[in-house]
Amino acid sequence: MLDIQEALSTNNIPAVRRYQRHMKSPDLSHIPGDCGLPYLGNAHNLLFNFEDYSRKSYDKFGPIFKFKSVGTIGTEGVWLLGPDGNRLVLQNEGNKFSNFFGWDVAFKGLFDNALLEQDYSYHKASRKIMQSAFKKEAIQSHLEIMSPVLRSGIDSWPKNKPVKTLRTLKNLLLDTGSKVFLGVETGKDTDKINQAFVDIIYGVADPFKDKGPFFFPYAKGVKGRKTISNFIFDNIDSRRRNPGKDLFSQLCLLTDEDGNKFSDSEIRDQVLFLLFAAHDTTTSTLCSVLHAISCNQQWQDELREELLELEKQHLEFDDLSTLVKTGWTIKEALRMYPPLGVMPRFTLEDVEFNGYTIPANSQVMISAVFSHYMEEYWTNPRTFDPERFSPERAEDKKDFFQYIPFGGGAHKCLGMHFAETQVKVFLFHLLRNYRVTTKKPEGADYKFRWVPLTFPSDGLPLSFEPL
Ligand code: HEM
Repeated sequence: MLDIQEALSTNNIPAVRRYQRHMKSPDLSHIPGDCGLPYLGNAHNLLFNFEDYSRKSYDKFGPIFKFKSVGTIGTEGVWLLGPDGNRLVLQNEGNKFSNFFGWDVAFKGLFDNALLEQDYSYHKASRKIMQSAFKKEAIQSHLEIMSPVLRSGIDSWPKNKPVKTLRTLKNLLLDTGSKVFLGVETGKDTDKINQAFVDIIYGVADPFKDKGPFFFPYAKGVKGRKTISNFIFDNIDSRRRNPGKDLFSQLCLLTDEDGNKFSDSEIRDQVLFLLFAAHDTTTSTLCSVLHAISCNQQWQDELREELLELEKQHLEFDDLSTLVKTGWTIKEALRMYPPLGVMPRFTLEDVEFNGYTIPANSQVMISAVFSHYMEEYWTNPRTFDPERFSPERAEDKKDFFQYIPFGGGAHKCLGMHFAETQVKVFLFHLLRNYRVTTKKPEGADYKFRWVPLTFPSDGLPLSFEPL
């Protein structure tokens, strides 16, 4: 094993940073591709034109090609597109790809030590502890906490007139997140924590990071991290003595089967990251589901019927699996508009793919967006068609790595069942009581941006009509 893999496996961050400072840029001259405009490279394609750019580049160069300027200005890297590339990167045989160097560009100083940027045996040990927080009983109790918050939030939205749904959803999920993740009751603390959290999110998207002045988003994000850190450290002891059902309390108590548990700073790092990992991804999913069902009223009626058939005022854990059409709808929204459209990694050794050697120290990107629209795997991929996930059609089952909204391999999303639960509970309260409408015509296109996450670019104006 190379020193750097050893350093990552033992979370020896000083050694990792030393390696990073002395790392040489890789020579990618033998890899096909068009590095775009001087200085800006392909950044505009990623931001505004990703589908077209990736499809045209794939047709011209094949499943591997280079790019410039994604993440840090001036950096070259390599795209691997399609299920084979996804498999190579996500299975990560021989530990040749690193998550730390892939995600550090975005997370440094804001989500240090997040589970997603840990590697190898250190990651495996942390994940083992975290897993208990996502077992059936835990999700059951999260459901009980989130349900009334979602219900009263939806009921408080303006009715019968267009509402910018992205903003209202974000606020609602912030309130839900404070309760479910931190155990904070709505009030003064919630506003302070929600604002700190929003500042951190903006910091992640700031391309200048610590090179920018103190009033730039990154600096505000670092302050936000401090605010939430203080809240967590101030409350760890009391949560250990008197735990609630929230995730923060659970992380204070969690151990793996060998009795290993998190230190205080690890609790802080993982609580912070969970807030982040859950928030925008679920907001993004709800936006695309609501767009799709507002433009497909007949399907919305079918979902409503499925939810009303339960004849219940409150959804319980065992009801979740009976909501089959609702489940396909969520899957289809995640296919068409995966919240995390691309996933970054970094090579620590030379890697062979499709006849090319990707040298060590290369940035590598894979794309859920590209795989989710490949005509080789999906019938009419641009059409919203939830029944493609029915057992009879099972279009997602041709290749294990064609459908990756939650990633795959060692870092596959830990919160996927949590997310599905939250979306189902939300739809349960919404569709039984309201019709969602849009001024857009039936089957209209979704106006959205892929970066930093998939969000509607027009704020998603929708109306909610009481039934
Ligand atoms: C629909 C909503 C969600 C989507 C689409 C999503 C997507 C993803 C993806 C693609 C990854 C892997 C990224 C990579 O490999 O680079 C990931 C990792 C992760 N997600 Fe999610 N996520 C969602 C919701 C959640 C929620 C609700 C939670 C927590 C409650 C969560 C917790 C995590 C964690 C902890 C990881 C890191 C796992 C690891 O590194 O071992 N996610 N998510």
